[in-house]
Amino acid sequence: MEIVPLADAEQVARLAADVVEGLVRARRGSAVLGLATGSTPLPTYRELIRRHRAGSGPSYDGVRCFTLDEYVGLPAGHPESYRATIARELTDPLGIPADRVHGPSPDPDQLATAGERYEEALRAAGGVDVQILGIGTDGHLAFNEPGSSLASLTRLKTLTEETRRDNARFFGSVAEVPRHVLTQGLGTILRARHLLLLATGAAKAAALAAAVEGPLSASCPASVLQLHPHVTVLADGSAAAGLARRDHYREVYAAKPAWQGL
Ligand code: PGA
Repeated sequence: MEIVPLADAEQVARLAADVVEGLVRARRGSAVLGLATGSTPLPTYRELIRRHRAGSGPSYDGVRCFTLDEYVGLPAGHPESYRATIARELTDPLGIPADRVHGPSPDPDQLATAGERYEEALRAAGGVDVQILGIGTDGHLAFNEPGSSLASLTRLKTLTEETRRDNARFFGSVAEVPRHVLTQGLGTILRARHLLLLATGAAKAAALAAAVEGPLSASCPASVLQLHPHVTVLADGSAAAGLARRDHYREVYAAKPAWQGL
């Protein structure tokens, strides 16, 4: 794992945008992006849109996107569905057409096979090149809550009260946050070729420390990152505050040969 402690959320966004743009340029129209929702990636998405509008970004023609998860039980087209959210916050402004943006289907009549079908769609696309991730205050990754199998695949999950409370800010109240979701499993996420975990704010400090320096355990789903060969963690000062080896990570990043990239 490469842990990069940065000064603030703006630096996290700039560096994350560099990684996404670098991949899109390198794959020349065949890039597969794994997108996360939640508050953490928003500054990165805004930076990508800013560069796109300024004319300095890459062409997104041909780029395909896969989201990590989706609420179950919201009316179709609900503004807080992850399909609507990712279109509004990123893919529409970048000009990526809706038929190139995929998510697990919450269609109530086909929920039993939704996970398998999403796994198949990911495989058919050749897998995700770079997967953007946030981390929950309880250590969850996507909607894989503590106790999730480290080998899990896309499936229906029940949200904890903590996560529903965390997400209530996007809805009118906790009661309006759905209880069920479809989420890529931890095993699904591990198949992406590059994992880019973004963590900002003091509320993430304990979860981030447990994920990268604690034991590998289903009790901290994000600790599964320790099994992946190419993980980059971009953390602002507050989120990195709980890392015991913070100074070491800084030293390593400062001395990194430029040709290596992230
Ligand atoms: P956040 O959520 O980015 O809104 O803090 C992260 C997560 O729950 O994975």
